[in-house]
Amino acid sequence: MNALAIIVAAGRGERMGASRPKAFLGLGGQPLLLKSALVFEAAPSVGGIVAVVPPEEIASAREVLAGLRKLRAVVAGGRRRQDSVLEGLKQAPEGFAGVVLVHDAARPLVDVPLVESVVRAAAEKGAALPVLELVDTVKRVRDGRVLETLDRGELGAAQTPQGFRFPLLVQAYEAAFRDRITLTDEAMAVERLGQEVAAVPGSARNRKITTPEDLAWAEGVVTGVLRA
Ligand code: CTP
Ligand code: MG
Repeated sequence: MNALAIIVAAGRGERMGASRPKAFLGLGGQPLLLKSALVFEAAPSVGGIVAVVPPEEIASAREVLAGLRKLRAVVAGGRRRQDSVLEGLKQAPEGFAGVVLVHDAARPLVDVPLVESVVRAAAEKGAALPVLELVDTVKRVRDGRVLETLDRGELGAAQTPQGFRFPLLVQAYEAAFRDRITLTDEAMAVERLGQEVAAVPGSARNRKITTPEDLAWAEGVVTGVLRA
């Protein structure tokens, strides 16, 4: 297996409200981008890593990731997440037909077994992502009024890395861009084609760092004060 990992880190981190994009904030002394990338560096099935970052952070990202043997490219992202992913996809080797993974730099506590399980499922089924079971009862709410209670057994929270046979994701992305669809994750593009997307068990540790509270939680996990 020689999967290609695209780590998207080109967001602005508006909800974090820090002075730098959040992928460059520290966690346990390492930028989130590096922490995420090191997991893919350690994953046996991954052969290459592409980092997608804000244009003004390209030089600093190259410095941060300099020690990674698998690093293939550091490129500038775009306005929307899907624009950033597209820039990453362009860095695949000519004729690549293996598995491509797309991972949020903002999920630095991902682990190697999770990466490997996504690669395996994606190679077998074409598309796969980690899904975390919901623990709360879920309501549909509009204008402060509960409309209904949803069947939690059928719902889950989508995580990354999301994995795909490369030609399938390219086809799905071409269709989504052609149809001017706003994607919230990559699997959504494949679902639109009516293709099967496999769900593997996600993990609570693999939470997305969105707000300062999330970063404080992750710091607690990394320093061993908190259990994930
Ligand atoms: N991302 C990206 N390019 C964009 C938008 C997002 O590469 N144009 C990346 C982010 O860097 C992040 C991941 O997609 O690693 C998930 O996005 P999110 O958590 O929303 O990060 P931000 O967009 O940076 O945060 P915010 O929405 O609060 O501004
Ligand atoms: Mg965002």
